[in-house]
Amino acid sequence: MKLLNKSLFYSLLFSIGTQSCKTINTQDQDVEVQLSAVSYNGNIKQIINNNCFYCHSGETPSAGMDLTTYDNLVEAVKNRGLLNRINNASNPMPQSGLMMKEDRLKLKEWAEKNFPLEANTNSINTVKTPTMYYKAPEITPINIDNEGFDFMTKMQGHWVGDIFLLGQKIPWFTFDFRAINTSQIHGLFEGGTMGNLFNTFFVAEYKGVKTIMLRNGGILADIYRTSYFVLTEVSNNEYLFVDAYGGKDIMWVKVSFKDNKMKMVSYTSRMGSNKPSKHMEFNGALLHSDLAQKASEKYNFPTKEVVKRFPNGMPLADWGEQYPVVTSASYMMQAGDKSYAELGELAQDPIQINDIENIATVDLSFKRSDLSKDNKISVYLSREPLTDNKGNFKTEYGYISEKMMNEVLLFPEISKSQNDFQLTYLHEGKCYLTFVIDNNQDMTPGKGDYYSESLALDLKAGAPLKIEVDNILKTIN
Ligand code: HEC
Repeated sequence: MKLLNKSLFYSLLFSIGTQSCKTINTQDQDVEVQLSAVSYNGNIKQIINNNCFYCHSGETPSAGMDLTTYDNLVEAVKNRGLLNRINNASNPMPQSGLMMKEDRLKLKEWAEKNFPLEANTNSINTVKTPTMYYKAPEITPINIDNEGFDFMTKMQGHWVGDIFLLGQKIPWFTFDFRAINTSQIHGLFEGGTMGNLFNTFFVAEYKGVKTIMLRNGGILADIYRTSYFVLTEVSNNEYLFVDAYGGKDIMWVKVSFKDNKMKMVSYTSRMGSNKPSKHMEFNGALLHSDLAQKASEKYNFPTKEVVKRFPNGMPLADWGEQYPVVTSASYMMQAGDKSYAELGELAQDPIQINDIENIATVDLSFKRSDLSKDNKISVYLSREPLTDNKGNFKTEYGYISEKMMNEVLLFPEISKSQNDFQLTYLHEGKCYLTFVIDNNQDMTPGKGDYYSESLALDLKAGAPLKIEVDNILKTIN
């Protein structure tokens, strides 16, 4: 059983689009491309960050090729056929499909001009500013007093299944959706060092109509981004959420239920520059509902109490000069060293981390005088302990058993250079934490890997736990 793919940690459920000099015409979605002055710092770095960072960065970059520095990128263009790969439709980079033409042309032009680092300001001044035009469609939300409210009940629970993400199928993935107040559920996904995101559905008032909205986002590839969706169609157990500003042409998420199965699909257009294409598909079964049931009793969920009002639709953020046309209810900011709270503020995000109630945090600090020295650490948060009362890891044929894997709620990975990590947006209540070092790099806890005995936690919002880890000392046998 292969569990995870590295790209998982590096992936947002909805990719970040690049957007620069172009005209967006809502009628036929034609994009007029106009190249502006290209330079590494001006635009090339951003294109590479948005499209390649997932895999070509970090400690073990794909193809052993790190594309996060100027020198490495120039080297890859010169000697690794980078321009061919980004234009090769049958074997593209990124693997999920060709980037938008504009970005590919920019990279070509950059190489032809011999890789300028900074933009030549004279040429910037002579570039004619193209006309920008975008008219968002009228969005008609579903009124949950009439239909659709049952979604909130159905979506709760611990879902386990496979996921298609960025052109790759990953056989094991999980979402843990539980109530966090009377009218909001939250499903967590936290990738660890490389990315941190979440998904929350809540009762909202959108232009005076009581409906359900989705907020999705977090930090990935050093960019903070959240996007908002609103429920616009309900039929036969299918619920469609569209971009709360740009509508279905910009991006959408559909959730459907059948028996005890849930399917969540997302399509995105890179902020309107392409027709929306499939970005993510999760197919899961409801394995456990006890934790969600407890949460719903605790918070008296579900009610139609409004969590957030958007009387005039979404407030539009200023995306800055680099992204002059706002096409989506998305709020973005380069992360750098800033805190989550600061980023939400700077991105003008209408719901920021401190507005989200009843989520717990755990501060981990790794001392690394144990076997974790020079190793990445996988953190497994689970419903049941992964080790037995003798302290042995529960395995089957040398691997974690499928049954135990299906107890896992969250599985971030911490880089070997990081000694502190904060787990955010955790659900309240009991869970277990187990640390594993994947010695043989097969992405699955199994024979020969190092581990610590499962630690029982009782998480409470407003009472952050601090855990010092210096006990990864055992070997799975
Ligand atoms: C989802 C992961 C993923 C993303 C995103 C991705 N790559 Fe790759 N890349 C790979 C893998 C895996 C390989 C090795 C297998 C192959 O060549 O197909 C690779 C190989 C390459 C190679 C060939 C290297 C060599 O020496 O053979 C180039 C060039 C490349 N990628 C460029 C890019 C660029 C440029 C981007 C962004 C525009 C990008 N990749 C995005 C996973 C990715």
